[in-house]
Amino acid sequence: MNNNLVVAIDGYSSCGKSTIAKALAKKLDFVYIDTGAMYRAVTLYFLRNNIDLTDVSAVEQALNDISISLRTQNGLAQVFLNGEDVSDEIRQMPVASNVSKVAAIKAVRQAMVRQQQLMGQSANIIMDGRDIGTTVFPDAQVKLFMTADPMIRAQRRHKELVAQNPDITINEVYENLALRDHDDTTREESPLVQAPDAIVLDNSYLTPKEQLDFALSKITPFIQS
Ligand code: DC
Repeated sequence: MNNNLVVAIDGYSSCGKSTIAKALAKKLDFVYIDTGAMYRAVTLYFLRNNIDLTDVSAVEQALNDISISLRTQNGLAQVFLNGEDVSDEIRQMPVASNVSKVAAIKAVRQAMVRQQQLMGQSANIIMDGRDIGTTVFPDAQVKLFMTADPMIRAQRRHKELVAQNPDITINEVYENLALRDHDDTTREESPLVQAPDAIVLDNSYLTPKEQLDFALSKITPFIQS
């Protein structure tokens, strides 16, 4: 029986899940697990090794050759693929534009979910993703479902992206987010859905502190003194 505390944070892309998850983990001294980073690391491996996503046995073989580990150091979440630090590379365009296809593959999801469940056995965790409260930890003590107005999400994301690409427009970002929402919520394997017992956190008009206080108020009752 697992006595660790699991906080599951699910929600749409660019909703600030990882920001609040990291802040919570720091405040509570929990382990932060960014499951999106795990799907991104698998995608990077597939791209580097030209794995044909339609070839089930090639995908399964590749999954056997992959080892992913996560580490948080000085507030920085690092991702290692077979021992190599790939934290920056998994955020670049080639991975970003292929990850949703990879995350839709059944064998990939099964392998990631197994590993995520193991990670929750040895520590108190804050895990963010799309299927944490529904599939990975359906018995998580606290489930948050994050959402925000799509245009506000697009504006936030645009602010981040424009630093690297000054020509990018709000409309492009908005369209891209809408597409990712569509892919995430309509895929066959573990689509993004709100767990019935999840608490909705709409952060459209909340400051980071207000979000953190709200989440803490839901978690602290489960922490034994
Ligand atoms: O949260 P993110 O943008 O880093 O996620 C990257 C991709 O992985 C995105 O397409 C959604 C997918 N994902 C998923 O399907 N299930 C998860 N638990 C986490 C992410």
